[in-house]
Amino acid sequence: MAFEPKILAFSCNWCSYAAADLAGASRMQYPANLRIVRVMCSGMVHPNLVMEAFSKGADGVMVLGCHPGECHYLDGNIKAQARLAVVEEMLDAYGLEPERFRLAWCSSAEAERFVEVVTEMTEAVRGLGPNPFRPTRPEDAQEVA
Ligand code: FES
Repeated sequence: MAFEPKILAFSCNWCSYAAADLAGASRMQYPANLRIVRVMCSGMVHPNLVMEAFSKGADGVMVLGCHPGECHYLDGNIKAQARLAVVEEMLDAYGLEPERFRLAWCSSAEAERFVEVVTEMTEAVRGLGPNPFRPTRPEDAQEVA
């Protein structure tokens, strides 16, 4: 059976979440590998949440926020960018490829961009294969819904 990655996407309510909604309403196709967690701002996604997603079996994690200058909380996305820079180091420390994580900007009107970035991410992670830290014992598995 072919590997299908599980990708967790923390999506800002004001932009990428709305873009996902618009993509769906516009009948655009995007990979079903995505599990979206709606957050009020990308700035509220702590690096520990990203690493926890990996520890619970996510093969890839995305944080999707408003474009710089368009954050509804002024600079939450800029703070996210600074804060999430550490994720790359954490992935490296755990021996995971940096391509398993992506921070991207996407406005509520950019359904096409949303589809493009999630498709790119899905293809990249599919090429990497499963997260080696995916829990193997059923009692350890906390399915990435
Ligand atoms: Fe969207 Fe801050 S409100 S990133």
